[in-house]
Amino acid sequence: MANLIIVSNRLPVKLQKKDNTIKYEMSTGGLATGLKSFYKSYNGFWIGWPGIASKEISDKKDEIKNTLNEEYNCEPVFLNQQEIDHYYLGYSNRAMWPLCHYFTQFVTHDLENWQIYKKVNQKFAEKVAAIAKEDDIVWVHDYHLMLLPKMLRQKLKNIRIGYFHHIPFPSYEIFRLLPSRKQILEGLLGADLIGFHTYDYLRHFLSSVQRLLGYNSNLGKIELNERLVKVDSFPMGIDFVKFSQAAENSEVQNKIKTLKNKLEGHQVVLSIDRMDYTKGILQRLQAYSNFLRKYPQYTGKLKFIVVTVPSREEVEQYHQLKNSIERLVSEINGEFGILGWMPIWYLHKAFDFKDLVALYNVSDIYVVTPLRDGMNLMAKEYLAARNDKKGLLILSEMAGAANELGETIIVNPNNIEELVEAIREAVSAPDEEKIRRNEIMRERLARYDVQRWAEDFVQKLLKMKELQKMRHANILNKARIEKIRESFHNAQQRLLLIDWDGTLLPISENKNKMQPTAKIKHILRKLNQNSKNKLVIFSQAEKEIMQTWFSDLEIDMVAANGEFVNLAGRWQQFDIFENDWKDDLRTIFQVFVDRTPGSFFKENKYSLIWNYSKAAFDLGEMRARELVNELISVTANMELQILEHEKEIELRAGGLSKEHASLRWLTSNQWDFVLVISDGLTGERMFEHLPQNSYTISVGKPQNKTDFFVKKQEVILEFLEYLSEEQNEN
Ligand code: G6P
Repeated sequence: MANLIIVSNRLPVKLQKKDNTIKYEMSTGGLATGLKSFYKSYNGFWIGWPGIASKEISDKKDEIKNTLNEEYNCEPVFLNQQEIDHYYLGYSNRAMWPLCHYFTQFVTHDLENWQIYKKVNQKFAEKVAAIAKEDDIVWVHDYHLMLLPKMLRQKLKNIRIGYFHHIPFPSYEIFRLLPSRKQILEGLLGADLIGFHTYDYLRHFLSSVQRLLGYNSNLGKIELNERLVKVDSFPMGIDFVKFSQAAENSEVQNKIKTLKNKLEGHQVVLSIDRMDYTKGILQRLQAYSNFLRKYPQYTGKLKFIVVTVPSREEVEQYHQLKNSIERLVSEINGEFGILGWMPIWYLHKAFDFKDLVALYNVSDIYVVTPLRDGMNLMAKEYLAARNDKKGLLILSEMAGAANELGETIIVNPNNIEELVEAIREAVSAPDEEKIRRNEIMRERLARYDVQRWAEDFVQKLLKMKELQKMRHANILNKARIEKIRESFHNAQQRLLLIDWDGTLLPISENKNKMQPTAKIKHILRKLNQNSKNKLVIFSQAEKEIMQTWFSDLEIDMVAANGEFVNLAGRWQQFDIFENDWKDDLRTIFQVFVDRTPGSFFKENKYSLIWNYSKAAFDLGEMRARELVNELISVTANMELQILEHEKEIELRAGGLSKEHASLRWLTSNQWDFVLVISDGLTGERMFEHLPQNSYTISVGKPQNKTDFFVKKQEVILEFLEYLSEEQNEN
């Protein structure tokens, strides 16, 4: 049976050394609790760092490993102090963390950090490879282990690898600053499925992949030479049931009662964060201070409980932030406090689950205003923990969670005035309004909980692997080439229908680059000279151009996508089409050229074409969707076809196509072998007319209807060269 192996920097078990004994405690964090029941059902195993430096536990490593293996289904990766300094604090938290959160001023580019980051990722890869089997599922988590998917792929070629990025993925303009940007992207592309919390992070990632590595994507699928990688968004959920039932616990109820007594007569504003510069704690305190100044009637009536959980204190910015927060808290308390009342309760410590739920339940307003945050699960936990639905959430639009929690008060955390007014709105909101807002969001959170999130991810990963297998099954490999060659050899009347643009040469808007090379002409000439073969070349190009390219070969040709055919050296117009539609629709194409820098417009006799291969990746894809939608609506009652090619949208007269043109040859003889090679076949009619001994090959992308697929034009050329080597017997 396949096992699920989860790999993350930290294990879900917290270890503490006290009086030379080790204490184990399950973490209460999102991933750990969320995946607990899920990962048991998959026979799961978790690999990660136990959180203590090796030298502190040097005599206890075996004991720790055994306990973690046997009692927690976990495998430790021990890190020494140098590794903690350079991999965890260094590259992960002094480069990747600030970069992904748009704090470029805090990013340090240190070569040693990078070297050790690589080394530790390799260490993780070795650990996983020692445990995993080829048919297992490995799910890698977060920015500490971005190189791991590729390292693991090199060790276990067919293993299923998923990667989930828990923090934001920045825009290309930010990501490109990283010296090791390409290695990081290549590292991630070792996975079969890469997940982000939001569509925006996904978009940024695809744009970096396209610009830095040159791989295009189609509906979130990136075509590597040997594999497909899927990129998708999966907004992480929480353990809704656990949080919504928590307040029923008698111990929690006692805690709530005690706190309520202490806070009687106050409206309570709460904020809880890891002490991190991304969380916007200073801006939030500033807003509270401005609020008290602007609305003095709240003096003595509000209590702001500010909890900061100690985090990464060895990193200087974290340390400095703590000092700044403490200074500001004391300034506010000093300035606005009165005898018997302090505006802020400040607590710098971690709380356990029960205390946390009690705090959630005594507050009227919960303020989550990060400057940038991948998701922010605590915002979701708060809503879930409030069964009375009377707590109002103020949420930053910069948190991934804002996409799903639109019914809260959403704020820009940099706009202090907006924050002030949000507090004002929240303190005066009636209970009915809070309940109305929260009901909708709680339903959503209950539906898409962490279990669903994880199931969804793993199911997509399994599906992806199936798709890869199918794709592999279609690839024109050696055995298949031999089979086609044998049937070619045994046939006496062979028809070869071969597309030109994108099939034998990559598409280029530069016509000179689309000219056949001497090698291609040599292959085509040899194929054509064999008296058993009938060779037809199809192109989008005009007949005059095809004439200059191929006339010396004396082959049959189809030009301008089927408008003209050349039979035995003479061009004929294939059909007469109504063509006045072009005048009405040309302006739509021109508008898209103007709105999309880098794109251009082409016109053939029976078609209008918009090409966006040189436009910015995201913009081009977006505009292409817009153009297709617009064309669908304006051409609804017209006999026209909308064709989507690689980075090109074509609007063409109905009935005009290379498939349509191919019928002229297909129906003209009793062929005992037909070979069709094209980078995109759309017409059904051609397939209906193919005799039994036919082979269809698509180039570039696999296609539903074709038998085989090759990625690159060179492979097709080699294959044709191989067929052309057969001697002409006549
Ligand atoms: C964020 C990251 C996690 C990390 C957590 C705590 O949520 O996405 O991967 O574990 O912060 O940070 P720490 O550095 O203490 O592990």
